[in-house]
Amino acid sequence: MSMREKIKVAAARYPNQRSAIMPALLIAQKEHGYLPGPVLEEVADILGVERIWVYELATFYTLFHTEPVGLFHLQLCDNVSCMLCGSEDLLKHIEAALGIEKGETTADGLFTLSTVECLGACEMAPVMQVGDDYHGKLDAARVDVLLDSLRAIAPRAASVENTSSQQPGE
Ligand code: FES
Repeated sequence: MSMREKIKVAAARYPNQRSAIMPALLIAQKEHGYLPGPVLEEVADILGVERIWVYELATFYTLFHTEPVGLFHLQLCDNVSCMLCGSEDLLKHIEAALGIEKGETTADGLFTLSTVECLGACEMAPVMQVGDDYHGKLDAARVDVLLDSLRAIAPRAASVENTSSQQPGE
């Protein structure tokens, strides 16, 4: 099913197409890996909504990326519960482990590191979201294990990503 078809199916569940922008953006991002301007315009055109409505949502929420990100986007929560449970030290640890700073992507394109607001999982603070998965009660040792496991699955993850972003017939 093409991106257009997937968005049409998702949008059919909403009486107001403006309400379908979030699910449409999730579909588009899964398809392209991120949301450059032309993709935002295509989403707006598919839904028949104002382009600014699509743009404002895509640039407001941290789950959407208007710039390319690494294969694994590490989104470390730095809100109150996570901060009290050590997220500041974890951030420093991850930056040192990856050789990048917050907001940067590793040279091999594997990891992008960001901090985000509350992920709604304070009971497992400190929490980091990677893709669709939450990793909680983190400490430096657990982060190291997580990074190693992500490196180990990188070839398979990259191959799935390449397959999902290919257009039909490619
Ligand atoms: S403050 Fe980190 S998940 Fe809520």
